[in-house]
Amino acid sequence: MFWVTSGATEGVFAAVLGLTDPGDEVIVFEPVYDTYVPNLVMAGVTPRYVPLRGENWTFDPDELAKAFNSHTRAIIVNTPHNPTGKVYSRAELGVIADLCLKHDVIAITDEVYEHILYDDAVHTRLATLPGMEDRTVTISSLGKTFSVTGWKIGWAVGSAALVNSVNQAHQFITYAVASPLQRPPPLRSVYRLNFSTICGRLIKRGETRCSMRFKARVSKFFTRIQYEVLSHLFVRVEVN
Ligand SMILES: Cc1ncc(COP(=O)(O)O)c(C=O)c1O
Repeated sequence: MFWVTSGATEGVFAAVLGLTDPGDEVIVFEPVYDTYVPNLVMAGVTPRYVPLRGENWTFDPDELAKAFNSHTRAIIVNTPHNPTGKVYSRAELGVIADLCLKHDVIAITDEVYEHILYDDAVHTRLATLPGMEDRTVTISSLGKTFSVTGWKIGWAVGSAALVNSVNQAHQFITYAVASPLQRPPPLRSVYRLNFSTICGRLIKRGETRCSMRFKARVSKFFTRIQYEVLSHLFVRVEVN
């Protein structure tokens, strides 16, 4: 199931409000994106910090294991990560998943940078790891992927049980997002604008051909399209 939220920002807040109770603990990795801790505090939840360290901003699995206890309700995982740019490896996500399963903890993931990857970095959804599908709420948005950060179109994806709870909180925070902003044609214009800028630069550098393909068509409203379609919606720029 998925639910459209007013950006990923409100998605995370609605997930925290809908899925936790005052007195719970929620684990966050530090440095932590700036909205999470205020969200937790407003929900009456105690943040438990686990540091990311070193050149690769890794966490110590023992330190993470110690952060879990009987009060832990959830862990928030932001990958790719703001502010470090870290992309959690499958092995790291495996450690997190094992602990979630062991302690019956849910995960709230913020994946707004899922399509902004450099070099060989590969984004893995925590929800795709064994046992995590039904205990993960995956949150993302159009903002970073399409350079429309002011549009505040986000979504929460997960099992009906989890996403219904997000929706129950969302209903009393914003009620609904602005439907005119969910029409896709302007997004295509954004694509074209970005594409012509990229191609213009390449042609100036002496490249002769530059083409772009839409991998998926968009239906009338983003609220109506499948998440799978949304997540595969990207353009391929070919330079010969
Ligand atoms: C990690 C992270 N999550 C969420 C957001 C905000 O997303 P949205 O504009 O969809 O609310 C940002 C914006 O900087 C971000 O860096």
